[in-house]
Amino acid sequence: MAEEAVHITVRPNGPLRVEGHIILKDADGQEWDLTGKPAVSLCRCGLSEKRPFCDGAHSRQNWQCMTSPGNLTGK
Ligand code: FES
Repeated sequence: MAEEAVHITVRPNGPLRVEGHIILKDADGQEWDLTGKPAVSLCRCGLSEKRPFCDGAHSRQNWQCMTSPGNLTGK
């Protein structure tokens, strides 16, 4: 199986958009069935009732978090 890069985009004031061949497991190793899903949005705000997936609560709660690689300490 060829390994292709998984792309993760940090959405402004929103989730992590993950695109590519995704295997998502809980701490016990159980996998979510992502059959047919080329991408998922993972909650970054902690407000979703469908964690680890984003359910739009970040927007309803006006959660704010802008970030970019330039925000890393020392860069
Ligand atoms: S990032 Fe969307 S609900 Fe948390």
